[in-house]
Amino acid sequence: MSGAGNFHVAIIMDGNGRWAQLRGLPRSAGHVQGAKTVRRIVEASARAGIGTLTLYAFSSDNWGRPGQEVDSLLRLLQCYLAGETRRCARNGVRINVIGRRDRLPSSLVRSIEHSEALTEHCTRMQLRIAVDYSSKHSILEAARRASCNQLSAQEFQDLLAQVDHSVAESGPVDLLIRTGGEQRLSDFLLWDCAYAELYFTDRLWPDFGEAELDAALEDFASRQRRFGKVLAETA
Ligand code: FPP
Repeated sequence: MSGAGNFHVAIIMDGNGRWAQLRGLPRSAGHVQGAKTVRRIVEASARAGIGTLTLYAFSSDNWGRPGQEVDSLLRLLQCYLAGETRRCARNGVRINVIGRRDRLPSSLVRSIEHSEALTEHCTRMQLRIAVDYSSKHSILEAARRASCNQLSAQEFQDLLAQVDHSVAESGPVDLLIRTGGEQRLSDFLLWDCAYAELYFTDRLWPDFGEAELDAALEDFASRQRRFGKVLAETA
């Protein structure tokens, strides 16, 4: 993918719970394994020349899971930021956590701010981690901030970025990958995925590796993107 400019891949990392259940382990063990996959895929994505990688780590609807699972997920995110920020900075990966911050524990918000500040100068790849994220909420909130102004699509997009705590231009999603066999968007990047190519795999997230990422990128390369138009030669 080198030379792809700001090629944007988004991933719905599904299947941690089933991965754990298949092994007779608690669901939290699946999330721990899932975090290890995140490490591998972030590195593989930077190597593949992906410009922006957005990972769905915790949706606003995930607050409805049992308290223990919510706590373990939020702790895992904080551990990830504590353990990986320096490595990201060394590898030129800029971290940005998108989503709401007003309902997160203050220690996690501090870690997010610290990781974002430490990697602010990085330009090789943007790693966006969606936490307490809901596209519907973001769109509603941006619409509220727009109030009666006559906004262009770009101005509305800028407002959405503001609502989401986006720190840099990320562009629309080119390729959306969902692991774990389900085929839905689950309130993830609805605006940004308007023309995304969708790729679904049965592979559970903890088992997803560089080879699977390469397969998704290869599949993407075979897609014909017309963005609602017709091909020049058939026009
Ligand atoms: C969906 O699988 C996955 C999640 C709700 C959490 C994703 C979190 C991680 C991959 C680890 C932490 C993230 C980072 C960035 C360090 P599920 O639990 O719904 O699985 P199931 O469908 O098999 O039950």
